[in-house]
Amino acid sequence: MEPTAAPDLELERLRAQVAALSKDAVLAQLAAGVIHEINTPIASIFSNIDVMERSLDALEAQLGPASPPKALALLKIIRNLVQVDRMACQRIAGVIRSLKLHARGEEEGMRPAELNSLVEDSLLLVGSEYKRRITFVTQLGQLPPVECNPQLIGQALLNLLVNAAQAIEAEGQVTIRTSLEADCVLISITDTGSGMTDEVKEKIFHTAFSTKALGVGTGLGLPLTHRIIADQHHGTITFDSQLGRGTTFEVRIPIKSKEQ
Ligand SMILES: Nc1ncnc2c1ncn2[C@@H]1O[C@H](COP(=O)(O)OP(=O)(O)OP(=O)(O)O)[C@@H](O)[C@H]1O
Ligand SMILES: [Mg+2]
Repeated sequence: MEPTAAPDLELERLRAQVAALSKDAVLAQLAAGVIHEINTPIASIFSNIDVMERSLDALEAQLGPASPPKALALLKIIRNLVQVDRMACQRIAGVIRSLKLHARGEEEGMRPAELNSLVEDSLLLVGSEYKRRITFVTQLGQLPPVECNPQLIGQALLNLLVNAAQAIEAEGQVTIRTSLEADCVLISITDTGSGMTDEVKEKIFHTAFSTKALGVGTGLGLPLTHRIIADQHHGTITFDSQLGRGTTFEVRIPIKSKEQ
């Protein structure tokens, strides 16, 4: 590996990487337990909501149109509240799905997956962290299912989205586009952030290269993303960056895996 910084800094960064990785492993294990704990009550709330809605229909039929206005008004309030509860639960279920996708540990293996859903699930996590200063725009095209490891692709998307958000100092925009291109799917992530110098461009895929403060960046995100896309999915990852204007990363993943 090419040295990217003074030896002292290199060692410090290595220590930070080891610390971050072991923390990740512990967190992934804890997250798996928490996800399981939350999934069960959420499923029962969903089923209660179904029963409540059916009971409200029955009650409304029993009361009939000639019932006291106060009773009908109460019925309407309860119906609205139940609908709000359903939406709130759907949001929690979405976040849980996303955590499940990103909590490493239980590797899923290759299967046909909807890449647009993976993009949306990844955005749910990054969006909640950065939505105060960054506008996330999606332009998602019609895509066929893609043979991939959804957990790994989710991880790659998360790395690219976090990099895009971290490249924007104050306010800005991150645009995620997906489209179909012959035998592969294209995912592009464009940010209006700092862009990169030519020197940085040359090193971004090197293990442990980071321009971020210690504790913010370990320099593992892009090498890992490259491995996921190029080695494990036989796809490509390219980028175009203009200093002071922003960066676009393009990921291409074959629809059918090479193994098939
Ligand atoms: N969208 C981007 N805009 C500008 N610079 C970027 C962008 N993405 C990556 N870089 C540069 O590439 C370097 C390496 O990125 P990488 O994701 O591998 O590591 P990191 O983000 O620094 O740390 P980690 O991802 O491990 O937390 C970054 O430190 C940054 O200098
Ligand atoms: Mg990164």
